[in-house]
Amino acid sequence: MNKSLTPMDHAKSVAATRAAQFVETGMKVGLGTGSTAAFLVRRLGERVREEGLKITAVPTSVQTADLAREEGIELATLDDVTWLDLTIDGADEFDGDLNLIKGGGGALLREKIVATASDRMIVIADASKRVEKLGAFPLPVEVIPFGWKATKGLIEDALSGIAVLGQEVSRRERDGAPFRTDEGNFILDLHLKRIENVRQLSLVLNQIPGAVENGLFIDICQKAVIGHGDGRVELVDIYGKSEWEDGEDLDGSDNMFSDI
Ligand code: 5RP
Repeated sequence: MNKSLTPMDHAKSVAATRAAQFVETGMKVGLGTGSTAAFLVRRLGERVREEGLKITAVPTSVQTADLAREEGIELATLDDVTWLDLTIDGADEFDGDLNLIKGGGGALLREKIVATASDRMIVIADASKRVEKLGAFPLPVEVIPFGWKATKGLIEDALSGIAVLGQEVSRRERDGAPFRTDEGNFILDLHLKRIENVRQLSLVLNQIPGAVENGLFIDICQKAVIGHGDGRVELVDIYGKSEWEDGEDLDGSDNMFSDI
C-alpha cells in the first residue's frame, strides 16, 4: 500500500487503477470529476506516458480538463467526437442496481450528458459509497439562476407528494457565495435521507421549469469497481454478480492487472 494515502484514498486509488485497465488504445473515453476520478486521470496519464496508450478523452469539468492536460492526455469536446466508448466516473452513492447519486462536486450535468453519450459507464468508488437505498447523500439538482427561488419552491411542493424521508432543500454555497457550476448554474441540495422510488423522483424533478438536471443516474452505469482500504477490488455488475480481486501492488509499478 502507498503509505502516503489514507485507507479511503488508497481504496479510491485501487478502484481507479483497476478501472483504467478497461481503457484500450483507440478508445474515446469520458473522464469523470472528483477525487476518485482524479486518481483515474493520473493513472491514464501514466499509461499514456509509459505504455504509449492512445486515447481521446472528453472531460466532464474544467477541473478534470486541467488535470488531464497536465497529464498529457489528448482532449476533445463531446461535439468533436459525438459518441464515446466508455465513461469512468466517481459517485456519491450507488445502490445494488448501480443507480447513482452524483453531483457532490457540482459536475452532474456534464457528467450525465457524457455518461449517457457512452456505450458503457463504469463507476469507481470506495466501499463507503455503496448503500441499500439512495438518499442519505443530499441529491443535487442543477437549476438556472433566473427565478431560482421559484424553482426551489416548486421542488419543495413536488417533494411533498413523493416517498422520501426528508424534504429540506438548500442552495449550495462555497466561501460564502452561491456555488456556480461550470455552466454558471446553481445547485440545490435535496436532503431526502431515503428515496423510495428513484425513477418517479427523477421524472418529477426534470419536469420542473428551471431545473436543468438532477443527480440521479438511473440505468446509465453497467459496472462498479469498488476499492477497499486493504487494496482489494470488487467488480460488481448490474445483475449483482460480484468478483473480488487482490490488489496489493496496485500502487506500485508492478501492477498485477496490467496484463488483463
Ligand atoms: C462530481 C461527482 C463525483 O463523482 C462525486 O461527487 C464523487 O466524488 P469523490 O470521488 O471526490 O468522492 O459526482 O460531480
